[in-house]
Amino acid sequence: MGGAGGQDIERPKAVGGLVAPFVLAGDARLRWESPSSEACVTTRLSDLELPEVDATGLERREMVAAFQAAGAQHWLTRVPLGCAVTKHDDVRAILRERRFHSALSVLPEMAGVTGPMVERQQRSILAMEGSEHTRLRRLAAPAFTPRATERLRPFMRQVVNELVDAVAAEGRCELVHDICEPYPIPIICELLGAPKEDWKLFSGWATDIFRIFNNDIANDLPAIQTAMSDLDGYVRHMVDERRTKPADDLLSHMIAVEEEGDRLSTDELVMMTEAVLMAGTDTTRNQLACSMALFAEHPDQWARLAANPELASGAVEETMRHLGAVRLTARIASEDIEYRDVLFPAGTLVIVSLATANFDGDAFTDSHRFDIGRPPSVAPQMTFGSGIHFCLGASLARAELQEALQLLAQRMPVLGLDGPIEWKPPGIGIWGPSRLPLRFGPGA
Ligand code: HEM
Repeated sequence: MGGAGGQDIERPKAVGGLVAPFVLAGDARLRWESPSSEACVTTRLSDLELPEVDATGLERREMVAAFQAAGAQHWLTRVPLGCAVTKHDDVRAILRERRFHSALSVLPEMAGVTGPMVERQQRSILAMEGSEHTRLRRLAAPAFTPRATERLRPFMRQVVNELVDAVAAEGRCELVHDICEPYPIPIICELLGAPKEDWKLFSGWATDIFRIFNNDIANDLPAIQTAMSDLDGYVRHMVDERRTKPADDLLSHMIAVEEEGDRLSTDELVMMTEAVLMAGTDTTRNQLACSMALFAEHPDQWARLAANPELASGAVEETMRHLGAVRLTARIASEDIEYRDVLFPAGTLVIVSLATANFDGDAFTDSHRFDIGRPPSVAPQMTFGSGIHFCLGASLARAELQEALQLLAQRMPVLGLDGPIEWKPPGIGIWGPSRLPLRFGPGA
């Protein structure tokens, strides 16, 4: 087979599942032989003419519309720091390709921040890759099974009921402040085994550590570091206690887990606890608020849920598909990677647009219709991600959201907006309403 431009071809290195059998060194256009023997041309990313989107400042619906318009021209979109994938198939494939690594560890560096906080970030399960990640995930996973989270359902109902009790007589509330923000902390504390008197501490740490995602790391750094170090001290103390006196909680389970003599060290336990607090708090808060904002705009669907509590599971999947609190994630090519007909040079940043994938008409019939009774799709909604970093707390988050939506629908069957919904700035990583004023009744 002749190379493009008559240049020599070289046999490729191992190129995983997304492959081309031949790679041509040093040229933008690379000829390769597809499995069906059709000649295919691979183009270096930088040489592609791509539609461009700068999503900075775009509100979520505008962002989805902009990426969808770009997606009609090409499956790849150029964005300020790299490129973006937006179709369901591509989003899943990139997240499942292990040579595309989590970009979490490089985000602070890209914002010009270095030092101990960044090193610490790189040791988080969210940022780890390869055998280190597999080991940590294997050791932590048994503590996150659906069975482990099922036992928390009565506690979840108790927390929601108490939060609704506090606003029931008024018949109105600001849902973000009164229900969504306080809801996940007691659950995470119960899961970890932290006592009620420390809920406030955890809530403050979670808020400060989450500043990492607010695109202002340089200014937020002192608050982030203080919260991390306080949490670190607290958890080390807890680990010491649980080692001598185990309880029925996540920390004791993680301490007890042992596979072929392998155990989580104290540092790893501390790091996992931080990851759980970080990944499991603001996400659930914002997702509940996003889901409720959708229902406030679709009273017919809310009435349907109130009359049919068994639709709660479908309601969670459909609201997460329609308005996910995590709209995107990012990957870095750890080496030169060929995917479809494009060569992604090592170091390429790929924005993975979960929000746009969730509206892909090829994956979801009538994708813009909001319908909690939608038959299950073969394509999963993408707000929990996919591949090796797929949300470890997905079954816990699903249970939390199912219990909350079901109870809120029972206790507030008639629901209406009591003012405009205000949204967090679009640049915020974990996103949702900042204010959701509601009036409700009867039933509470
Ligand atoms: C609705 C709520 C939630 C959403 C939307 C969500 C979303 C996600 C997404 C998209 C990822 C993958 C990020 C990536 O691939 O770059 C992820 C990872 C993760 N999530 Fe969640 N999450 C939620 C709740 C939770 C909860 C409640 C917990 C724990 C209690 C949790 C723990 C984790 C952990 C530990 C990871 C890292 C997994 C790994 O890297 O292997 N999440 N989550």
